[in-house]
Amino acid sequence: MKVFVTGGAGFIGSHIVDELLRQGNGVVVYDNLSTGFEHHLPSPAINNNIKLIVGDILDYSKLVCAMEGFELVFHLAANADVRGGKANTQIDLEQNIIGTRNVLEAMRINHVPEIVFTSSATVYGEPDVFPTPETYAPLQTSLYGASKLSAEAMIQAYSEYFSIRSYMFRFVSWIGERYSHGVVYDFVKKLQTNPRELEILGDGNQRKSYLHVEDGVQGIFLAIANIREQKNVINLGHESYMNVMRLASIVIEEMGLEDVKFRFTGGERGWLGDSPFVHLDISKICSAGFKPRVTIEEGIRRTTRYLLENQWLLESRPMGITGA
Ligand SMILES: NC(=O)c1ccc[n+]([C@@H]2O[C@H](COP(=O)([O-])OP(=O)(O)OC[C@H]3O[C@@H](n4cnc5c(N)ncnc54)[C@H](O)[C@@H]3O)[C@@H](O)[C@H]2O)c1
Repeated sequence: MKVFVTGGAGFIGSHIVDELLRQGNGVVVYDNLSTGFEHHLPSPAINNNIKLIVGDILDYSKLVCAMEGFELVFHLAANADVRGGKANTQIDLEQNIIGTRNVLEAMRINHVPEIVFTSSATVYGEPDVFPTPETYAPLQTSLYGASKLSAEAMIQAYSEYFSIRSYMFRFVSWIGERYSHGVVYDFVKKLQTNPRELEILGDGNQRKSYLHVEDGVQGIFLAIANIREQKNVINLGHESYMNVMRLASIVIEEMGLEDVKFRFTGGERGWLGDSPFVHLDISKICSAGFKPRVTIEEGIRRTTRYLLENQWLLESRPMGITGA
């Protein structure tokens, strides 16, 4: 198959690209490299099934031309910073809603029949049902979550009008190799700056699910092989969860530090729009054969070790960008 991957040079996208290449597909990555890295992708000199187009999904005519002749689109390009919405009220609208609309228009014009979209558990806001099923009717608490839910809605309408099969995966926080934003990233960076004290946003009791990238990629490919409705909204998470304080202790242990004092900023939420508890009902994707193999603890240890071995990645982004 010829597969088009927006955001394919990012943390999650580059692992999806690896799997697509392993399966023998031809892959074009369309990425503006704003938060992604060419370094994450195999060189076309080594694997001639891959091509990188440096382009922006907001560059509509370039996107339409680039997408000619594809059978499947993975759409990951987005603003993945869940916390920036209050300071910049444009970014989620532009990158996540208009960007997705551009991808859908390019698909319509080029008759691409299938899309996989990376949505988020953030669309559930602060739910009162746990584990939270796909059918939960949420109220929004962040512009990021609202933009992902709007993008899902637009994908569903294009699915209906133009017979596009669609997958909307609602992710918990992903961790693993090439991870470049989120709570583990922030903690490692903060602890390198000050190994005696760690600032934790909120009261440290926030409980979240974390999914290792190996399991996440396996889940996506199992779902698209086995769940074949026209429109598919699917939770993708871990059956367990962990509180932020425990996560911090694991990072500290992996860094070989001792006697680190925690300083809490206070409150149940780490930031405006943060959800104190994220735990998704994953029975739908489990029915397709999904079972996470990496425990949350092991995933956090592996992520910390990867970051320590890849100092360049820690230096590439500012602190405080947290993926949900
Ligand atoms: N990481 C998580 O835990 C998580 C959780 C829920 C949802 N998601 C979603 O999964 C997707 C991938 O996230 P990630 O963690 O790999 O983030 P990432 O920042 O590593 O990847 C995003 C990629 O998109 C590219 N990009 C951004 N804006 C673009 C634009 N306008 N045009 C072209 N390319 C652009 C970036 O350069 C980058 O390569 C995003 O849609 C994100 O919202 C991620």
